[in-house]
Amino acid sequence: MKRSNIIGCGSYLPERVVTNEELAATISTTDEWITSRTGIKQRHVAAEGELTSDLALKAGERALENSGVDAASVDLLILATTTPDNTFPATGTKVQSKIGMVNGAAFDVQAVCSGFIFALSVADSFVRTGQMETVLVIGAETFSRILDWDDRSTCVLFGDGAGAVVVQAGNGDENNASEVFSGNNVGRGILSTHLHSDGKYTDLLYVDGGPSSTQSVGYVRMNGREVFRHAVVNLASVVDEALDANSLLREDIGWLVPHQANKRIIDGTGKKLGIPDSKVILTVDQHANTSAASIPLALDIAVKDGRIKRGDLLLLEAMGGGLTWGASLVRW
Ligand code: UT7
Repeated sequence: MKRSNIIGCGSYLPERVVTNEELAATISTTDEWITSRTGIKQRHVAAEGELTSDLALKAGERALENSGVDAASVDLLILATTTPDNTFPATGTKVQSKIGMVNGAAFDVQAVCSGFIFALSVADSFVRTGQMETVLVIGAETFSRILDWDDRSTCVLFGDGAGAVVVQAGNGDENNASEVFSGNNVGRGILSTHLHSDGKYTDLLYVDGGPSSTQSVGYVRMNGREVFRHAVVNLASVVDEALDANSLLREDIGWLVPHQANKRIIDGTGKKLGIPDSKVILTVDQHANTSAASIPLALDIAVKDGRIKRGDLLLLEAMGGGLTWGASLVRW
């Protein structure tokens, strides 16, 4: 069976930055509350007329450029998003055409904040089974469009953005990885992905609209405290599941690249797992919770600033509405 390599990444944040202070001028909140409860300092908000597909396109183009891959050789484009341009067609098909993909297929995956992990898992399955050679996986969101800007308990938490990776078939032994690593996790690439959902908890985090229910778009509604409680437990458990599946230990993790929702959730998960802060990629301060875009955004920032290097063992994890949660171990 083949192994999926992540051969490059890219990201895009809309130009407009909205600081906590700016929000505090329009709703009853403070920079101190937002920073101490979430670690968020600012978020990016898409310009009028700038759509999820536009953000996805820019992140996708940057990932292709970073990978040295031509759009024409991409077989499959998977877009993880909860904020599609339209109810249908899949936003991924719009990106497929604009990016210059001439072969293959494109579709969207919807798992809210876990969307990137779910999309990566789908890409990995297609590549491992030999159905696809090169897959562009994008997470892109314009959450600003589904926020109730009068609800201070949710509107301060989210932002817009996009991140992408290129997944390509390999044999796991690129860069002579087997000389460096031993055990059943030899070599480079996606070692495994682990997905979960539990629909009992749909009412903890949802949008109160939709084509079938209200024929309107609706707004994000969340029981933050309960989501928080589930997040730390579920994330620690799925991280251990991923490590066990690869006979690896918590101390083998080079970098934890978590979904960037809240610094306190990330700190809590790291603490539960005994992973020091120095091994955790934290970017939520710069872009808030960008849902499916947050992991590839954090990954791209840490790859470009030189923290993540070839050969590092990465643990990606996320939890979101559904509830959905998942993890992936990647040898970079
Ligand atoms: O990607 C997954 C998606 N979601 C998440 O990961 C979010 C998970 N949950 C959280 O991050 C946290 O629960 C929040 C950041 C949303 C809230 O933090 P908390 O410590 O759980 O606060 P809380 O909801 O218990 O609210 C505490 C107080 C309340 O006031 P009272 O009832 O104690 O008087 C809220 O009304 O804080 C108040 N509050 C605010 N105050 C100032 C809520 N939002 C704000 C705000 N500014 N923006």
